[in-house]
Amino acid sequence: MGERKKIALIGAGNIGGELASLAARRELGDVILVDIPDKEGVAKGKALDISQACALEGYDASIKGTSNYADIAGVDVCIVTAGIPRKPGMSRDDLLAINVKIIRAVGAGIKEHAPNAFVIVISNPLDAMVYAMQKVTGFPHNRVVGMAGALDSARFQHFIADELGVSTKEVGALVLGGHGDTMVPTLSYCTVNGIPVTQLIEKTKLDAIVERTKKGGGEIVGLMGTSAYVAPAAGAIAMAGSFLQDQKRVIGCASFLTGQYGHEGIYMGVPSVIGKTGVEKIIEVELTDDEKELLNKSAAHVRDLVASVDKL
Ligand code: APR
Repeated sequence: MGERKKIALIGAGNIGGELASLAARRELGDVILVDIPDKEGVAKGKALDISQACALEGYDASIKGTSNYADIAGVDVCIVTAGIPRKPGMSRDDLLAINVKIIRAVGAGIKEHAPNAFVIVISNPLDAMVYAMQKVTGFPHNRVVGMAGALDSARFQHFIADELGVSTKEVGALVLGGHGDTMVPTLSYCTVNGIPVTQLIEKTKLDAIVERTKKGGGEIVGLMGTSAYVAPAAGAIAMAGSFLQDQKRVIGCASFLTGQYGHEGIYMGVPSVIGKTGVEKIIEVELTDDEKELLNKSAAHVRDLVASVDKL
């Protein structure tokens, strides 16, 4: 058996705690939960709680809490949730100015102590935060990626499965574009065990499902008063697992575009192959004219966010 992998989770809040629990349960590697000095107790407490669950459930993982970046030395993966989550009525973009400062501080810590890590960003507004993270670390673009498409596709899959009364496992879905209200759930690539969903659900219902998917995050913020954390953690763990175990899964991620889908120089949600070197390939699919137009609008919105990051 090879050496145990190490995973740093930067931010020990709602998503960070869920990530630690999932990483331990899947025995992906040893976990270091990092938060600011004021919240070190929370990081240490969550680490102890999950370690004690390991004893009950019989899985092997060492989980430690810290506020010292030196403790992430040599990690294979960093998953970043540091930042503040949305409050009711706040858009992801409202978070930009606050979270970009946090991402720059976190990125400096990662660059110094974990220069070879694969970095998965979850903090919002996602497409802008992953851009800021790559800039501050200077890591190759294929080693810095954002978690969004996995979550947005999962929401789309759930709503389709729920409408049809079938298992979510049978539903395949592809959501492209920025992680926000401009995302593009593609009906032409949504299938139920290979059957195009357009043959199974009438157009008005499908349109409503697309709208609900786009606002899927906001729906949960409205209900709970804070952002979702279970499905976002599951999305990032799928990406981390594909990297650590070289699974080469095809996952919707905010990847850096170099001309794919007609865009370059920005991070945006596209189907990406994740293996042991990070994002190994971006898959380009044909889109309808409507989908192309929506994707271009989404890219324009991402460009605006990136311009705001560059000004800060
Ligand atoms: N270094 C490490 N941790 C930090 C830093 C920092 N510089 N700044 C803030 N944090 C921590 C906070 O102390 C907090 O514990 O990040 C954690 C964020 O946790 P929550 O507030 O519970 O937020 P969460 O629901 O986990 O969401 C985190 O992901 O989906 C996005 O919009 C969401 O941007 C938000 C992020």
